[in-house]
Amino acid sequence: MKTILITGGAGFIGSHVVRLFVRKYPDYKIVNLDKLTYAGNLENLSDIEDLPNYQFEKIDIVDAEAVNSIFKKYNFDGVIHLAAESHVDRSIHNPLDFIMTNVVGTVNLLNAAKEAWKSNYEGKLFYHVSTDEVYGSLGVEGLFTETTPYDPRSPYSASKASSDHFVRAYENTYKLPIVLSNCSNNYGSFQFPEKLIPLFINNIKNDKALPVYGKGDYTRDWLFVEDHAAAIDVIYHKGKIGETYNIGGFNEWQNIDLIKLLCSIMDKKLDRPSGTSEKLISYVTDRPGHDKRYAIDATKLNKELGWKPTLQFEEGLEKTVDWYLQNERWLDQVTSGEYLNYYNKQYKHA
Ligand code: NAD
Ligand code: TYD
Repeated sequence: MKTILITGGAGFIGSHVVRLFVRKYPDYKIVNLDKLTYAGNLENLSDIEDLPNYQFEKIDIVDAEAVNSIFKKYNFDGVIHLAAESHVDRSIHNPLDFIMTNVVGTVNLLNAAKEAWKSNYEGKLFYHVSTDEVYGSLGVEGLFTETTPYDPRSPYSASKASSDHFVRAYENTYKLPIVLSNCSNNYGSFQFPEKLIPLFINNIKNDKALPVYGKGDYTRDWLFVEDHAAAIDVIYHKGKIGETYNIGGFNEWQNIDLIKLLCSIMDKKLDRPSGTSEKLISYVTDRPGHDKRYAIDATKLNKELGWKPTLQFEEGLEKTVDWYLQNERWLDQVTSGEYLNYYNKQYKHA
């Protein structure tokens, strides 16, 4: 019997990780700690919320006292830390929110784990989930490896890089048992529709413009979210303490090519004449400081721990479109309220 704290479990990736652990390990107790920001939604976990090995705690990780109290309430064997402010465009509007949650919040968790585990680190693990964006921006060639120097270029990636450094510093200074992973762009069900793929699915569905930043010639490496959750499971159980593992899909797409593929899938699913959705493409002012290309080399994770992605992108994208079209109520709920204010501010010229 293990007790594991998963932070940010009501968000996109976190909800997939919580679901995987609760279902796969009935003898683990999974405690989901989440502030429930605009991006956190307990409906993402409605299928597992009544299972006996699942518990939710509404906590802001910026509140050190509240974080400490949770470590006193439970005897955690491990932490899988996903809670974060995660959207680059929001970080450009409000960098301080990102420093508070991503940096201060992470240090609060590290302090609480260090204090709770100080008498014996044996069998304990602090797993920090991070992003490939800490490595900066690639030219046309090359891939990010675990030894690529950090070069964060947005307030979001700077805050994640800072949190990664603190996690490593706690291992070096206090010998806290830690492991890290840096993953490429995720897609799949329950992703908040401010990120490229769900935003464009929702806009196509509602006949709204598709705001493509710049010329759309930016490149990202896309990974199906359930493959990321599976990688986190493997790294949590088999990863070497102190190591970093890169996670990626070996699946690079220029934004405009991805958007055209998405448009053609949507035309088919909505039974509209081919070419209808593409007409919604609207080139808008670029994101300031937009990173040109991200691409991950996930060889280490494959060779050392045997993980590899399971889904082809076309198949994963079609599955994702089906999910959003079948879950209209979820989509309508999360796109009301605060989100509308953000949308109007971000896309006022679209
Ligand atoms: P998300 O924005 O969908 O979810 C974040 C969750 O954290 C939400 O449930 C939110 O309520 C919670 N949260 C935010 N601030 C909090 C606070 N102060 N206290 C407690 N909870 C708080 O994010 P996501 O896309 O699921 O990303 C999860 C993690 O994975 C993040 O650390 C992110 O940096 C990392 N990551 C994301 C991607 C991606 O493509 N989405 C890729 C690589 C790494
Ligand atoms: P996003 O989903 O925000 O992820 P990230 O910036 O963390 O990689 O964006 C993915 C790519 O899509 C990125 O190059 C920015 C671009 N993009 C647009 O062109 N228009 C949009 O409205 C959004 C949200 C993103």
